[in-house]
Amino acid sequence: MKTNYALVTGASQGFGKALALEFANRKINLLLIALPNSGLPELSNFIKQIYGVDVRYLEVDLSIGQSSYFIADYVNSSTLQIKYLVNNAGVLSKGLFEDLKDEFILKQIAVNVTAPTLLTKVLLENLKASGAASILNISSMASFFFLPKKQVYGATKAYLTSFSKSLRKELKKDNISVTTICPGGLNTTTRLCYQNRLVSWIAQKTVLNPEDAAKIAIKAMIKTEIVVVPGFVNKCLMALDKLLPGFIKDRLANREINKFAIPKLEETNHQ
Ligand SMILES: NC(=O)c1ccc[n+]([C@@H]2O[C@H](COP(=O)([O-])OP(=O)(O)OC[C@H]3O[C@@H](n4cnc5c(N)ncnc54)[C@H](OP(=O)(O)O)[C@@H]3O)[C@@H](O)[C@H]2O)c1
Repeated sequence: MKTNYALVTGASQGFGKALALEFANRKINLLLIALPNSGLPELSNFIKQIYGVDVRYLEVDLSIGQSSYFIADYVNSSTLQIKYLVNNAGVLSKGLFEDLKDEFILKQIAVNVTAPTLLTKVLLENLKASGAASILNISSMASFFFLPKKQVYGATKAYLTSFSKSLRKELKKDNISVTTICPGGLNTTTRLCYQNRLVSWIAQKTVLNPEDAAKIAIKAMIKTEIVVVPGFVNKCLMALDKLLPGFIKDRLANREINKFAIPKLEETNHQ
């Protein structure tokens, strides 16, 4: 007899952790994925004790293609039925293209593009077996805009948004819905919280707490929505984007993107 689980990648911290807690709050069992030594055993015990749900975890590096097969093997050789697949793990960045290290770019593409694609593929049969499953892909508002210093990151998220929208059409026949969430800023790390305070008043209003965004995301996934931009101001900006001339949008985007001057931003994923 199989039991329903939500699989959340990048669940050790930030948005992924907030999503995991929101699933647990809804009494849904969890399979958490993150890198080794990122605190998954402690987080799993905490969630089990507080929420009374079953929590499993796997410590794997999603920048390695083999990890997706490892996860699928684990799932298929167990009694886990994945009903909710959340592709959240992501490598963020902000920096000039010429300054980004080649290895960093490849890792960003591997985690943000290859891993969600492959993981979805290898878990597809398991998802189908649930009768009615949902995939939640965590993209970004950056997937809609062409931002300097976010060229590779924005492109990886544009891929994810496009992939999700097409896949949704294909998987309808299997009763699997695909929802994409495109947050603006999220206060997920100390660095980001600080960085998000340096931007203009209006840009600060685009930033959400991960807990609030997680509630919105899971609700949208359950309602099988297509693409969700969380937050009132972000929704207004998306509407405004259709109306404003390109040169004004470029000027506004450049002004915000050049505001941050925190050292070593380019090489960390905690941005
Ligand atoms: N923060 C924002 O402003 C923002 C805005 C829009 C969209 N998003 C998207 O939201 C998602 C989560 O972002 P976040 O801010 O919560 O990021 P975060 O705090 O840096 O957390 C990223 C998560 O992904 C995991 N991860 C990174 N590389 C991995 C790898 N190679 N293998 C396995 N796990 C890996 C991390 O695990 P470890 O703890 O083990 O490193 C961590 O759990 C991302 O997809 C991001 O693009 C974020």
